[in-house]
Amino acid sequence: MQVFKTKIELGVFIASCKTRSKTIGFVPTMGALHQGHLSLIAFAKKESDVTLASIFVNPTQFNDPNDLKNYPRNEAKDLEMLLEAGCDAVFMPNEAEMYPEKDTRIFDFDGLDQQMEGAHRPGHFNGVAQIVSKLFDAVQPHKAFFGQKDFQQVAIIRKMTQSLNLPIDIIACPIVREDDGLAMSSRNQLLSSEHRKAVPLIYKTLQKARTLAYEKSVGQLQEWVEETINDSGLLRVEYFEIVDEQTLLPISSFTAGKNNVGCIAVWAGKVRLIDNVTINL
Ligand code: PAJ
Repeated sequence: MQVFKTKIELGVFIASCKTRSKTIGFVPTMGALHQGHLSLIAFAKKESDVTLASIFVNPTQFNDPNDLKNYPRNEAKDLEMLLEAGCDAVFMPNEAEMYPEKDTRIFDFDGLDQQMEGAHRPGHFNGVAQIVSKLFDAVQPHKAFFGQKDFQQVAIIRKMTQSLNLPIDIIACPIVREDDGLAMSSRNQLLSSEHRKAVPLIYKTLQKARTLAYEKSVGQLQEWVEETINDSGLLRVEYFEIVDEQTLLPISSFTAGKNNVGCIAVWAGKVRLIDNVTINL
């Protein structure tokens, strides 16, 4: 597995792949890798000749300086895991390499960033678009693989790719979970043992919510989810929104044949976790 730290080294590799007509599958990450990330590598390997991952903790997408400071980092283990997973190459730039000067670009996501993560983490998606557009420019992948765990992020990246006219297929991959249902996340390792025991309630409640959609209104269901999770005493719901899968706009009632996604953000102590499930009639 080749490891590149600069855009110049990476560029030589990409050019040689293109000369040999190899398709490139790209998996951007912020490291602290887990099976969720590795599932993206597996999808990329299946659908491309060359699989390239990136590891870069992108400062511009952190709206909370403490979150950036505490974000888990483990380069050596990440590289071992990528090697084991059969990844062909890794791009691991430092901050000066990606931001030689301040990125002042402001992206317009046509309203997709107005709720949920966008509303609760001001500037987050603009930072995501800044780094992903720079990475796309450096890697020039044919396909890029993202997890549905960050449901709104996938929509934002699709929108950015379209507005920049980039010839890149954005592929959304399913959420990988622990045996107890907790969505895998780099931040899970920051949970106290008490909170770790409490957090499976998030997915359990979302699953139950899917079945309750037949008997409750959207508002009642939102209330029920928030109460059920908050009643644990250890967890606090920041938001639970049921949105249209395409527009990401909150729905006011369930309609048969429409695909909706229930998206949640929960504080477990100082750790903020997100998850989502489809909720349809
Ligand atoms: P990061 O949180 O490291 O996630 C990298 C990719 O892994 C994202 O596409 C994310 O949705 C996916 N992922 C995380 N947990 C997953 C799980 N349990 N199952 C399936 N996929 C999962 O998302 C980012 O980094 C950054 O915002 C990034 C796109 C790299 C830009 O900095």
